[in-house]
Amino acid sequence: MPKVIGICGSERLKGNTEQFIQRALDVISDYGIKTELITLADKNIKGGCIGCIWCRANRAECCIKDDFMPIWKKMYEADGIIVGSPVYWGSATAKMKAVLERAGTVSEGRELGNVDGPVKDLGWPYDEKPPGLFYHKVGGAIATTRRTGANATLAELLMWFMINNFIVVGSSYWTIGVGTKRVAKETKGGKAGSTHTTTMLETDVEGAVTIKHFGENFAWVVNNLHGK
Ligand SMILES: Cc1cc2nc3c(=O)[nH]c(=O)nc-3n(C[C@H](O)[C@H](O)[C@H](O)COP(=O)(O)O)c2cc1C
Repeated sequence: MPKVIGICGSERLKGNTEQFIQRALDVISDYGIKTELITLADKNIKGGCIGCIWCRANRAECCIKDDFMPIWKKMYEADGIIVGSPVYWGSATAKMKAVLERAGTVSEGRELGNVDGPVKDLGWPYDEKPPGLFYHKVGGAIATTRRTGANATLAELLMWFMINNFIVVGSSYWTIGVGTKRVAKETKGGKAGSTHTTTMLETDVEGAVTIKHFGENFAWVVNNLHGK
């Protein structure tokens, strides 16, 4: 059975981004695909790639000791990866960027399956660049924003897939969620005077439909490429 993981770059658990990624994973699991959500909010990620190049001279492992390697292992084993980030200051979160930088450096330019040895030094630029460890996996991204910056953040995330030999999946609109949490007076069901908090997934109806289509497309590509 193929497997798809979603990685949420928010610093808040159960927030907008997590709900949007989970929605995509729920749709994907309806098509017989195993899914798993990974949150970064509860992980210790010390920072981005420090350019030491240890991983290139050795095995596919980052020398920074934190929670990154178990996440990388799940990325390596998955058939599809969805990354999602809230917009922080017009960009993806630093934690999301840190994971992508290090995952890219550990995996890029390796022969398929070469996790135990060094990257073959073919000089730079490469004439024949090996495909890397993410070759032909399926990728997609989601960004959520209170107001602006989602397109730039989505593009930033998608660029990572496109330098790592992924097959990238789209939807019927850009896969973004927009808006903010609203506290509204109950109009039906609840006690008089009680309030109801609406989530972005509820209020951004077009965003929710876009994620549904994204999940359907993602499952279609994963099953066609990796269905057993
Ligand atoms: C540090 C920080 C920076 C933010 N920067 C922006 C921004 O530049 N533009 C914007 O529209 N929203 C910004 N936001 C709002 C979040 O992008 C938005 O609320 C998002 O949906 C939160 O996702 P989450 O619930 O998954 O954490 C920022 C939020 C935080 C905490």
